Amino acid sequence: MSPFLLTRTLPEDATDAALRADVHHGLTGTPKTLPPKWFYDAHGSELFEQITELPEYYPTRAEREILIARSGEIAAATHARTLVELGSGSSEKTRYLLDALTGLHTYVPVDVSESALTQAGQALVAERPGLQVHALIADFTAGLTLPDTPGPRLLAFLGGTIGNLLPAERAAFFAAVRSLLSPGDALLLGTDLVKDEKVLVEAYDDAAGVTAAFNKNVLTVVNRELHADFDPGAFDHVALWDAANEWIEMRLRSRTAQTVKIPALDLAVDFAEGEELRTEVSAKFRKEGVRAELAAAGLDLAHWWTDQEGRFALSLSVAR
Ligand code: SAH
Ligand code: AVI
Repeated sequence: MSPFLLTRTLPEDATDAALRADVHHGLTGTPKTLPPKWFYDAHGSELFEQITELPEYYPTRAEREILIARSGEIAAATHARTLVELGSGSSEKTRYLLDALTGLHTYVPVDVSESALTQAGQALVAERPGLQVHALIADFTAGLTLPDTPGPRLLAFLGGTIGNLLPAERAAFFAAVRSLLSPGDALLLGTDLVKDEKVLVEAYDDAAGVTAAFNKNVLTVVNRELHADFDPGAFDHVALWDAANEWIEMRLRSRTAQTVKIPALDLAVDFAEGEELRTEVSAKFRKEGVRAELAAAGLDLAHWWTDQEGRFALSLSVAR
């Protein structure tokens, strides 16, 4: 079996400091917000995997359909020897790319979720003798350094996770991605597309309540890490479509007027009855918008593939 290497690019106390800063900033601002990356402790990663199997949550199935149909073309267009995947999670859909990229030397999954990286990495090296897997526990918004592995490099960012960044964050992210690539290297990007509001809202407010549990998990993370006393039952899950920004917003609405204590920050946070805390945006895209955002960062759109129903797109762009 080839080795599975797991590197933590930031010490654990840096993660702790980042959580403290995000919680302090987000809960003392108006409106209250928390960044979505804190959903993904081991339980949050497991809840996300359950979401991908819900009847209402189409993005995973749609993107898998495209990968099954197009991985051969992606391999032929890139000849990648290193595949870097940001926000790789379970790496489940990545297997289609790994099968198609016959000359691949190293796979570099990057995620903030150590549990997801360990499970996925160990399974992959067991399944694929000869494949080097060098996993990185890292925040893809915070200046990545990649291992020195052979090119050409293909950087994959699947699942529509790009939509969880705000527009200014996206621009910074694409510029950082471009700086990790050499001319001719490629970015494979999954983007969920603008569609009927009902389909979108139901994907983020499923009948079984799994997305509600995922949303409230961020409160459990803050309780555990910062000794806060959030009562997840005192908040309602909210998913709404913001037509002006073309994004889904997930929020937690306080059922009552309440004060939450966060001793690690020496902070007491007041919530009015009905006050909402924004926990995630999930932007939905159109082809020309994606092309323009990529071009602004020096990435030229070369291929645009959608699933049969036109719900989700996978694009391949090439570094100038
Ligand atoms: N790519 C997978 C998983 C998507 S879920 C799929 O398509 O199914 C989003 C993943 O991104 C999670 O595994 C989460 O832990 C990771 N993630 C979220 N924000 C991140 C960040 N800032 N840096 C690194 N990983 C992040
Ligand atoms: C990871 N990301 C693309 C998911 C999304 O659809 O925005 C996270 C998610 N939030 C609620 N359901 C799934």
